[in-house]
Amino acid sequence: MTTSLQSARSDRLPAKLNRRRFLAGTAAVLILPAASRAQSSSVVLEARRASVQLAPEGYPTTKIWGYDGQAPGPELRLAQGARLRRRLVNALEQPTTIHWHGIRIDNAMDGVPGLTQDAVAPGGTFDYDLTVPDAGTYWYHAHNQSPEQVGHGLYGALIVEEPEALDIDAEHVLILDDWRLTEDAQIAPDFAAMHDLSHGGRLGNFVTTNAAFAWRQSVRQNQRLRLRLINAANARIFPLALQGLDGWVAAYDGMPLPTPEKVSQGILLAPGQRVDLIVDVTAAEGEEAFLVHMDEDGGFAQAAFPVMGRASLARRGKPAPLPPNQGQTLGDLAPARSVDMRIEGGAMGGLRSAMLNGEDAGFREMARAGQFWAMAGSAGMPDAPLVMASRGETIRVRMANDTVFAHAMHLHGMHFREVMPGGAMGPMRDTLLLPARETREIAFLADNPGEWLFHCHMLSHAASGMMQRVSVT
Ligand code: C2O
Ligand code: CU
Repeated sequence: MTTSLQSARSDRLPAKLNRRRFLAGTAAVLILPAASRAQSSSVVLEARRASVQLAPEGYPTTKIWGYDGQAPGPELRLAQGARLRRRLVNALEQPTTIHWHGIRIDNAMDGVPGLTQDAVAPGGTFDYDLTVPDAGTYWYHAHNQSPEQVGHGLYGALIVEEPEALDIDAEHVLILDDWRLTEDAQIAPDFAAMHDLSHGGRLGNFVTTNAAFAWRQSVRQNQRLRLRLINAANARIFPLALQGLDGWVAAYDGMPLPTPEKVSQGILLAPGQRVDLIVDVTAAEGEEAFLVHMDEDGGFAQAAFPVMGRASLARRGKPAPLPPNQGQTLGDLAPARSVDMRIEGGAMGGLRSAMLNGEDAGFREMARAGQFWAMAGSAGMPDAPLVMASRGETIRVRMANDTVFAHAMHLHGMHFREVMPGGAMGPMRDTLLLPARETREIAFLADNPGEWLFHCHMLSHAASGMMQRVSVT
């Protein structure tokens, strides 16, 4: 596959991504400036417009919206248990908020407009002040008019470090995204396109890692790397595989697995999800290892790791697990309360009606309001929560996907586990990929008081109906 990957860089790029035209007249190897690694020392995060060289050299710069004018925004890195304080300054022309995705947070800091705070008006500020109880890979992003704001680059990595250093040689945060660019490399403004809302969401035509078209990092053979993958795309599910790398999944959505799992097949990373990989470089000096983005032509390089220098390192054994986070136990499922949630709508879904703003609306009326989906019979922010839990209760939610699209179901404030048929428990996560026409059950310990959003992380789906909430008192 090495050959196919190398040629994929020049003339075998998948047509569906329209990447070919971005390559015309450019060298095979591109490294775009990514200002993303700069650590923020300031206590301000300013959401503002900026122009960056997103498309390859030779194309115009792209007008983005970014925290501190960067896309991705500054990487926030803290010790487990530390306090994070940032003043959001809104220099955009529309209201905004910040959500700290995956953090078991104080509800007032969760950043959901209309539920936990008012959106911050242009020119306004909001002081976020939170502690980060769990180590792991998290991220922060805008949570108002999300398709448009996240789609313009308003997101960044939030890394919470374990107390003890791991036995690794290097660590890389890889934020995966796809952008919908016009011919002149500008972000296509069609965020309310009905087809995206009612089908698989807004898919881009320009796939990047850390906002770079061809992200690369030189490595040495037998080096052990920690790769922190974050899917910040509006709707794209990244089908990933490793080449020239031996890898283990150490954590999903920030939460460590009790035993790292060998990556044998691929990894599907849905919008909002993260995965922590421990990888050993097996490719030899002079070769390249890849994080492969699989497609019907075999795949292309989502990230490339050219192997340089002498292979003097010895190969290590299986990696040790990451130290467990608190709150990873669910307690007894037997007395848990069970809730059913049917997901309906979308194109070819046959949805007839749903509750919309407190009234029963027919599908045509819903469509006029830009609403195409319903969860538990309601579209948009519901008047009444899906479930009112008392603090400490275990809640099970059976999600029946009665649509022909996959959804990335994300719960704020608490992680959950999937309850497998037969009762085994899946890994702890905050975002679950729910395949089309299938049913999945999750269970969580409702131990964090507040009003928590529960929505599809395909952002155009959330904006067009796929929102529910869970109330814990
Ligand atoms: Cu990452 Cu409600 O979202
Ligand atoms: Cu969805």
